Amino acid sequence: MCIMHANHVLVLAGSVRPARRSLAIANWVAGMAGGISGPAFRVVDILDLGLGLGDEPGMAALGGYTRPTTCAWSEMVTAAAGVTIVTPQYNWGYPAPLKNAIDHLYHEWRDKPVLVITYGSRGGDKCAAQLKQVLGGMHVRLCEAMPGLMLARARIEADDGQVEPAIDFAAQAGEVTEALEALVASTSGA
Ligand SMILES: Cc1cc2nc3c(=O)[nH]c(=O)nc-3n(C[C@H](O)[C@H](O)[C@H](O)COP(=O)(O)O)c2cc1C
Repeated sequence: MCIMHANHVLVLAGSVRPARRSLAIANWVAGMAGGISGPAFRVVDILDLGLGLGDEPGMAALGGYTRPTTCAWSEMVTAAAGVTIVTPQYNWGYPAPLKNAIDHLYHEWRDKPVLVITYGSRGGDKCAAQLKQVLGGMHVRLCEAMPGLMLARARIEADDGQVEPAIDFAAQAGEVTEALEALVASTSGA
């Protein structure tokens, strides 16, 4: 794996529900990153990866992928200078499709600079803690700051997929920018 010449960072939207907010929030994060000099940020929808649920016959850690979708995902992560994961908290954890996408690979994650941004009524700190543990097992280079975006209770109860990140998370925009800057700095040291 070689990331020396990688010039983009993936922004992985962590949820796949029809009424999800992760894509809108991931797009906002990528837009914020646009103001930072460094690699381009590219939003990735887990649904577009077309990964089956645990559809590889073998363990990722042993290599030998059989599915074209896994190979494409592997190449995508390998080529990226870093990954930003934007994910909601689901029942104190994180969405199953995100775990499925992570577990489809293994070696590709090693030393990959990764930033985790969560959201939930209290920012999704329990989700962040679980991801920290799992990504530690994949030996990523995890950014210390893990911004937790506070999603208003009214938004959650409306469950209509609506979100205006620039307004809803205005108070945390600076924190997100700082975390993105740290990620970009980490990619240049890769
Ligand atoms: C299955 C499920 C579990 C949830 N669990 C939590 C939770 O533990 N904490 C929280 O703050 N919000 C929780 N929520 C509310 C989410 O923060 C909110 O619905 C958010 O928009 C979900 O992200 P998504 O729209 O991208 O799917 C949960 C939502 C769903 C669908």
